[in-house]
Amino acid sequence: MAERDYVLGVHQAELERLGLQHAVWRPRALDAWRRAGFTRGMRILDVGSGPGYATFDLADVVGRDGSVIALERAPNFLAALRASKEARNVTQIEIHDMDLAQAARLPEADAAWVRWVFAFLSEPSTLLARIGAALKPGAPLVIHEYADYGTWRCFPGHEVLDRFVEAVIASWRATGGEPNIAVPLAQAMPRHGFRIRSMTPLIDVCRPSDFASNWPLSFIENNTARMAELGVITRDDAQAMRRAAANWLQAPDALMILPLVMEIIAEKV
Ligand SMILES: C[S@@+](CC[C@H](N)C(=O)[O-])C[C@H]1O[C@@H](n2cnc3c(N)ncnc32)[C@H](O)[C@@H]1O
Repeated sequence: MAERDYVLGVHQAELERLGLQHAVWRPRALDAWRRAGFTRGMRILDVGSGPGYATFDLADVVGRDGSVIALERAPNFLAALRASKEARNVTQIEIHDMDLAQAARLPEADAAWVRWVFAFLSEPSTLLARIGAALKPGAPLVIHEYADYGTWRCFPGHEVLDRFVEAVIASWRATGGEPNIAVPLAQAMPRHGFRIRSMTPLIDVCRPSDFASNWPLSFIENNTARMAELGVITRDDAQAMRRAAANWLQAPDALMILPLVMEIIAEKV
């Protein structure tokens, strides 16, 4: 896969950022899986697993008698996942090198988990249909995707950081993705054989000292560099955006409202 194919990039810094992002979002993932009925012995798809941060948590849930099938196409994410699987001797993880935009069929499973993957696909409903075809009737599907990326705002307000958010949204759309995919996805579910059990908005307001602020700050750090590399913004813009984030950190009354994520728990009819 060419580095340019995936808007966020697949380099080492992004691999590490995904780890930090998972640390922030992990409690919500575990909670959603429990409510959806993920449990021992299941065979669960981790669709677009990245380096596998959620994959290992799913492996703990299913245990040695279950399996987690990680589907991913980025070679260095796959390599990192294979290396951790070896090092931790987690035999219940199966790793499939798969382009989700091309694969005609997904492996069959009892449940599926998808986080921040549909947003990057130009035909998200095709993937939804393929997940549906891979699941048995009654099987749960848990999704965490953005419903409104534009809720991300800094206080005190900063025009340069507003431009950063706009540039991120534009860069995903320019590569055929749609950041605010959760609502259209939920609307498409009945057409693809899913019944929605619940839809839950997930959003944080954080101060610089809150653990959650690592999520937006690490994204600004990485993605300003990535967008400059892709020519979406200039290197001067990237620097100005990083400076604005550093200034936000120093403001005594600093707050940030983060992008709105929607949790969807559905089941295959
Ligand atoms: C933002 S990351 C999220 C990773 C993981 N789901 C998580 O929540 O930590 C998006 C992932 O989707 C993968 N991805 C994007 N398009 C893909 C495609 N067409 N086929 C397979 N994986 C894809 C990327 O390589 C990346 O690992």
